[in-house]
Formats: sequence, C-alpha cells, structure tokens
Amino acid sequence: MKSFKSEEEARAAGVYISKVKSFVKREGRLTNAQARAIEVNWPSKGLSIEQGMLNFDEVFGRSAPTVLEIGFGMGKSLVEMAAAAPENNFIGIEVHRPGVGACLADAEEAGVENLRVFEHDAVEVLAQSVADNSLHRLQLYFPDPWHKTRHHKRRIVQPDFVQKIRSKLAIGGTFHMATDWEPYAEHMMDVMTQAEGFENTSSEGANGFVPRPEYRPITKFEVRGQKLGHGVWDIIFKRVS
Ligand SMILES: C[S@@+](CC[C@H](N)C(=O)[O-])C[C@H]1O[C@@H](n2cnc3c(N)ncnc32)[C@H](O)[C@@H]1O
Repeated sequence: MKSFKSEEEARAAGVYISKVKSFVKREGRLTNAQARAIEVNWPSKGLSIEQGMLNFDEVFGRSAPTVLEIGFGMGKSLVEMAAAAPENNFIGIEVHRPGVGACLADAEEAGVENLRVFEHDAVEVLAQSVADNSLHRLQLYFPDPWHKTRHHKRRIVQPDFVQKIRSKLAIGGTFHMATDWEPYAEHMMDVMTQAEGFENTSSEGANGFVPRPEYRPITKFEVRGQKLGHGVWDIIFKRVS
C-alpha cells in the first residue's frame, strides 16, 4: 500500500481515511498498581497485533473453546468469568490502558491462567489476529452507547462489523451483547435480525431478548441501575451459516 506524508496528501489522491472510531482514547492516569501489573504480567498474558494471526492452541498451550470480549473496561467481570470457566480460553480487548492494568492486576490476584489481553482497537485485532471460524463466543457488554444522533455512526454494532464477527465465530458460536440503553438495544436487535447468517437464540422469537445468562456476572453498576428501575437487555445470536 502506498503511504502518504499527510492526511491532506492522501485525500488529494482520493484515498478514503476512516476516522469513525467507536471510542475516544482517554488515557487517564495509570495507577502504580496498574503499571506494576502490566510490567509483571504482560510477558505471560499480553498479546499484540505484531504477533500476526494467532494460533490459540499455541497461545494457551492447549486446545479449548475460545471466548473473546471486546471493550472489557476494568476487566472485573471478564476475570470472574475466566475464573469460573477454567475449561475455556478467554481473550479480552480494550483500548484503555488503565483498564488493561486493572484487569491484569485482578487476574494475577485471582490466579487466572486462561486469560490473555490486547491493548488495541478491537476492529483491527479481529482483522489481523483472529482466525476465521475460531471463536466459541464473542462478548460485547455495555459498549459506549453514543447517545447523540450525530454520533450514532460511532456505535460499534453496525452491519459491517457484525459480518466481521460472523466470519470469526465458528458455526454454532454465539455473539452476546448487553446494554442498559434501550435505544441501543433496539438498534442492536435491528442490526442482528437483518444480519445474514445469524439466528436469535431467544425463546421469545425472532425479536426476543434473553435473560442474563449465569455466565455473565452481574456488575455493581447493574445492581445500582436495577434499584433505580433501569433495564438491561441481553441479546444472543448464533452463527448458523
Ligand atoms: C462503556 S465501557 C463498558 C466497559 C465494560 N464492558 C463494562 O461493562 O463495564 C466501553 C468500553 O469499550 C472500550 N472500547 C470501545 N471501543 C473499542 C474498540 N474498538 N476496541 C476496544 N475497546 C473498545 C472503551 O474503551 C470502554 O472501556
């Protein structure tokens, strides 16, 4: 690919530059504990796109179903899930460095061995590091809702993105989303019901939500929301073709 010295030069040559991102990188302060957790655990638990396409059997030293989570935040529920399901491999992707540090600190404390993390944009990780048909489940919990209409294009759940996920899931693998913002839940449901190759797992039918499955830990923030009468919507679709 030809490289350009500046964005202007690229645009002048008619090259389209995608600037739509599902996140705004907020560095935040890395605490000493997070920095230490990254330093100590990165060699055994950190993954980077420079490693190229991953072979999960090599990464984890065994063959097991692999669950991938996009945007794990501080990683609390991801670490809990990994601890509760040692028979599965877990890979988390997060762009926020303090979150990566917090997740690694928790994983270390919990003695979790079946978890690896990327500090990178999930869209690029999917394209460059995750093999087709390789995932047992893909998790996307409480993605940034982008409330304002003019920001809706930044929502990560879009038809193209969903088809990329489809190609990475094994046939029979599931895409599990959760959100506490009803308009985003409706948007997710619209995108998924129209997506080729997926089928809703809900017993409520084609447009149905599902109860929170046991494996997704309830977060403090959800408990608080429930007390205030706020809802949470879980959506699980299965790849069928
Ligand atoms: C609203 S937070 C939710 C965090 C966590 N899942 C939870 O339930 O507490 C959304 C997270 O997704 C991350 N994120 C957004 N777009 C991302 C992307 N393209 N790749 C990786 N992480 C992303 C953000 O940095 C943020 O931490």
